[in-house]
Amino acid sequence: MTSTRIQNQSLRARIMSAEDAAALIQPSTTIGMSGFTGSGYPKSVPMALARRIEDEHAAGNPFRVRIWTGASTGPELDGALAKADGIEFRLPYNSDPVAREKINNGEMHYFDMHLSQVAPMAWQGFLGPLDTAVVEISGITPDGSLIPSSSIGNNKTWLDQAKQIILEVNSWQSEALNGMHDIYYGTALPPHRKPIPLERPDDRIGQAHFQVDPDKIVAIVETDAPDRNLPFADPDDVATAIAGHLLDFFAHEVKVGRLPQELLPLQSGVGNVTNAVLAGLMDAPFSNMTAYTEVIQDGMLDLLEAGKLRMASATAFSLSPDAAERFNREASHFRDKLILRPQEISNHPELVRRLGCLAMNGLIEADIYGNVNSTHVMGSRIQNGIGGSGDFARNAYVSIFMTPSTAKGGKISAIVPQASHVDHASQDVQVIVTEQGIADLRGLSPKQRAETIIANCAHPTYRPMLQDYYDRARRTSFGQHAPNILSEALSWHQRYVETGSMLPTGS
Ligand code: COA
Repeated sequence: MTSTRIQNQSLRARIMSAEDAAALIQPSTTIGMSGFTGSGYPKSVPMALARRIEDEHAAGNPFRVRIWTGASTGPELDGALAKADGIEFRLPYNSDPVAREKINNGEMHYFDMHLSQVAPMAWQGFLGPLDTAVVEISGITPDGSLIPSSSIGNNKTWLDQAKQIILEVNSWQSEALNGMHDIYYGTALPPHRKPIPLERPDDRIGQAHFQVDPDKIVAIVETDAPDRNLPFADPDDVATAIAGHLLDFFAHEVKVGRLPQELLPLQSGVGNVTNAVLAGLMDAPFSNMTAYTEVIQDGMLDLLEAGKLRMASATAFSLSPDAAERFNREASHFRDKLILRPQEISNHPELVRRLGCLAMNGLIEADIYGNVNSTHVMGSRIQNGIGGSGDFARNAYVSIFMTPSTAKGGKISAIVPQASHVDHASQDVQVIVTEQGIADLRGLSPKQRAETIIANCAHPTYRPMLQDYYDRARRTSFGQHAPNILSEALSWHQRYVETGSMLPTGS
């Protein structure tokens, strides 16, 4: 079918069906899969494995596996395997609704971790042995090098560490991807670790292809299937207002000389709000910008095409179906403006700090002191995971978190007396933006932070409730550095769990 993509003669002999490849995977083993957002994940072998698992379960035989990936993947991977009840353990990030349900029902173990730490921890031996790598690529060169696909994620590490390798060669992926990647092979374990020689987002420090031991490749499966990312909604009024506040903030920082006119490398989380920010940058007075981020989103293609963005470095594409088709049509045009790297490099704290990234991420809730919960609804139900937000937030030049001021139709306030779970401590949170306004927390004490967040970010319905809590805490708290009323601090969450709303009954 697509064997022109497989140019190495001896490896062609290992082409087989997805079913035959899946049969090489044993129960209770660990599989490192490619995939980062809905890009570059294997689309055929995981589904064949899910069918096999279902057959084994029907015959009364236990069969579950441990899955490591780059980040979230697509329904053909997480969705299919979770539906088959085939995942015993999963890391490091998930956004699949079926898998989320299993995790929150206590039926599946999930280790939500910083994305930059996955590969180093695998090398350190902290995660246990890796049995099989299942990695999507876009081709194989005559000398047996692997041309990466639309995401890099942890693929280099999986290919190096796994005992056996199964490749999916996807001919849907653009051939123009060849040359766009920068795979850095210079990482090492302490005490031999060296500085990473990257000083600008556009530096290339590695090589275009993966090198693997050909003897480990046990199967090659040909596919021709699209990546699957959800389309973004057009920015609504709330997202547009948040973007407006943030862009005014950037303009002010340029004016007072704290940011250069071209800003600093942008890091942007995924979601409707961050997409609205990217859309807003089209008309903002900044040009020649760069991005050093995790994923390349729709808005970045527009910015690149308009010449506002000079280049973008990431580990994956995260494009809506329309934008993905557009990229494939015009890939040669974007090729020299995009670099995809392993996620341990795209998210590396050393590089984020050196480059001075402007980190822009979403949040679930923030408390009045600016501690941020990105992951756990009501302190216990995982939404997605911390992803790369921690890699960037702690090390950014400015660490910004954005959210609508309420969720679930106003039943939940995104600003609460105390966060029910903390991913980003107040020290890692410098700016919070809602549609109500912006709280610039740099250099403020906890009490100054609380007053700024309540005044600028809380929804008018919840603002008096927060002010009342804070005023009473100022009078009665055990300590007056960050005043709290311990018996009440999580009462809004408890009320939501009991009544379906954080608002007091009758209001
Ligand atoms: N309480 C309960 N649910 C909440 C909530 C809150 N305080 N805030 C948001 N939610 C829910 C929304 O209702 C929505 O649920 P739905 O899908 O059932 O409608 C869901 O969380 C997503 O929220 P949304 O407002 O659409 O925002 P988003 O798509 O921007 O996602 C996060 C927000 C925090 C979930 C998302 O940014 C995330 O997973 N962040 C952590 C990882 C990260 O930052 N990655 C980027 C690093 S590079």
